[in-house]
Amino acid sequence: MTQSFTNEPSSYWLDGPQIPEFAPLNESIRTDIVIVGGGIVGITAAYLLRNSGRLVTVLEGGRLLHGTTGYTTAKLTAQHGLIYDELISTFSEQQAGDYYEANRKAMDWVKQLVDELGIDCGLETRPAYLYSESTKGEEQLEKEYEAYQKLGIPGATLTTETDLPFPIRKALRLDDQLQFHPVYLLATLVKEATDAGVKFYENSRAKTVHMPSQVELVDGHKVDAQQVLVTSHFPFNDFEGLYFSRMRPERSYAMTLRGNVQEDLGMYINVESPTRSIRSVLDASGERLLQIGGEGHVSGRHEESTRNNYAKLRDFAAEHFGTTEVTHHWSAQDLAPLDHLPYIGQMVTGMPNVFVATGFSKWGMSNGIAAAHILHDLALDRSNPYEELFSPTRSKLKPKDVGSFIKDNAGVAKELIKGKLTGAEASLDELGLDEGKIVRVDGQKLAAYKDEQGAVTFVKPACTHMGCDVAFNQAERSWDCPCHGSRFSYRGDVLEGPATEPLEQVQPKQS
Ligand SMILES: Cc1cc2nc3c(=O)[nH]c(=O)nc-3n(C[C@H](O)[C@H](O)[C@H](O)COP(=O)(O)OP(=O)(O)OC[C@H]3O[C@@H](n4cnc5c(N)ncnc54)[C@H](O)[C@@H]3O)c2cc1C
Ligand code: FES
Repeated sequence: MTQSFTNEPSSYWLDGPQIPEFAPLNESIRTDIVIVGGGIVGITAAYLLRNSGRLVTVLEGGRLLHGTTGYTTAKLTAQHGLIYDELISTFSEQQAGDYYEANRKAMDWVKQLVDELGIDCGLETRPAYLYSESTKGEEQLEKEYEAYQKLGIPGATLTTETDLPFPIRKALRLDDQLQFHPVYLLATLVKEATDAGVKFYENSRAKTVHMPSQVELVDGHKVDAQQVLVTSHFPFNDFEGLYFSRMRPERSYAMTLRGNVQEDLGMYINVESPTRSIRSVLDASGERLLQIGGEGHVSGRHEESTRNNYAKLRDFAAEHFGTTEVTHHWSAQDLAPLDHLPYIGQMVTGMPNVFVATGFSKWGMSNGIAAAHILHDLALDRSNPYEELFSPTRSKLKPKDVGSFIKDNAGVAKELIKGKLTGAEASLDELGLDEGKIVRVDGQKLAAYKDEQGAVTFVKPACTHMGCDVAFNQAERSWDCPCHGSRFSYRGDVLEGPATEPLEQVQPKQS
């Protein structure tokens, strides 16, 4: 169905697949391994652990696969932007090579699994391209290509030829990469894991971890386990290890469009800003759709209505591919660590039974599968060749990364202070239909959303994570926090962490 941008966004990936449903956990239980979060990492880890002889329990705060994994663009590739030159300079050739190898192995594992289980998840082999339209971008691609050569990454070429319908200056092509439908794949893994005895609970939101390895849920129920795997995207227990200060939440937009799309279109992403991510998708009816992504920004820090971000992607598709018929549009966020490597492994020194996987910088398909393999090994007390590389307790920050750490956290402090200052609020009269604003009503500062019928819902604007004031995200009708990316519905329910508690609904005092 074609949508306009005033409609609720809906992800292409969640329209069709039957995802098994599970009841909430309504008692305190014991298990061996508890996995918190049912996205690509948590589900793959549960699948890998299904025959380990351990009792495995998955707690999902909402619906399985309705986190970032259900709102991705699903390129399964080891070409992750301009990463390898950066990793060589921050870490070493050996470690950059290990990063490639971990991701390549993850891709090969998916290929083999799809083959073995006969999973129909639209897995297709495609070349991946990083392309540039500027001289600076061209130079960056040349350096990245040198890095590929140093690392012996096979199938790479620098080229000016692509199947894009617009001119580019240069492209770095990497052959034998993959695109797929992650929800079809992962829904199958949920069924396989369930059949093998893994217990899944939905609408079961974790609140905290008590030493050494007990998970307490928001509703007070407790899960006693020997190991805890934190696969909740933003770690829900992020105060352990101060994860909120080490990652930046970045939101991006995507859409699928109907049109005359080339059957063997490659997978593309540019090196300039704004980002344009391009691939095709083979729909269940056999129609090939175009998928465009981009228009990213730090979550909660947007200048104008976020509906415009969709409009810009549609304009790009119209200009270059001659297609404007949008079938689905959606947005999501991912977390970018300062040194560009995900955090996978023991969450913090002193908590030997708690493991985390996060910080995939919008490349969590292959990294997520790799993470699940590492978590599997660590939970079973086995070593993994990549555990040192991704260890969350590493410290390899370059001066430039320290600079961005200070800048990011100064930005958070600024947001925190800004929220405490008065005067920036609108009056209730300025609030239009289907709009949200921070308003002052009878001396009280409130976050107000007026629906299309004129009914206003008020919530307290201070984010329940650390108190920054939330900002309205028009396209999603949500309140998004500019500090660490927590998101709340206009009624205040938690949509995304690190916050685990809702914004309180209030009725303004009458003067
Ligand atoms: C727009 C966009 C496009 C992308 N495109 C690509 C791409 O093309 N290729 C690629 O490799 N990567 C891509 N990524 C990145 C990739 O999608 C993510 O890195 C990956 O999906 C993250 O998976 P996850 O399992 O860590 O998190 P999620 O999928 O978010 O799963 C975490 C789960 O934990 C649950 N949860 C959260 N808090 C709690 C709690 N307190 N208690 C219980 N459960 C909780 C959530 O509800 C959620 O279901 C993209 C990301 C974005 C934002
Ligand atoms: S997410 Fe940290 S203050 Fe809101």
